[in-house]
Amino acid sequence: MHIHKYEKVWLTFGGAALFVFLLTLGISAFHMGMHPASSMETIDPKKVAETAPFNEPGVKKVDEDTYEVTMIAKAFAYTPNEIQVPVGKKVIFRVTSQDVVHSFTIVDTNVNMMVVPGNISEKEYTFKEPGNYLIICNEYCGAGHHYMKTEIEVVQ
Ligand code: CUA
Repeated sequence: MHIHKYEKVWLTFGGAALFVFLLTLGISAFHMGMHPASSMETIDPKKVAETAPFNEPGVKKVDEDTYEVTMIAKAFAYTPNEIQVPVGKKVIFRVTSQDVVHSFTIVDTNVNMMVVPGNISEKEYTFKEPGNYLIICNEYCGAGHHYMKTEIEVVQ
């Protein structure tokens, strides 16, 4: 069978591109540990309020350099509504939903996760600058979707 020269070039290019994409995906997933923020842990959405740590949502100090923020998303607000974390410390956000799909998006950061009922979404972030950061929902969740927001205060 005769394969035209240009076709060979394109086959080689296509094969090489596929190899590079799969290699990049493999390195980021297995070596760097990147994964979607959702679906790592599950929770009964009807029992969120009595399941730890969501029975006491808020900020907890894990150690000198690590804080954990537990939040519940529900149409159309986040609980607790006001949180304060220190600048320059690792903050682990753990969020779940009590009703429908929401999101937990901190504006001007790379924290942007879907919050799916039945799943606990988790994301780490270290704030480099103090100030007030806006948290919004960017998954359409009902008539009050555009009111669904809160603020996080990052202090020295
Ligand atoms: Cu919650 Cu949109």
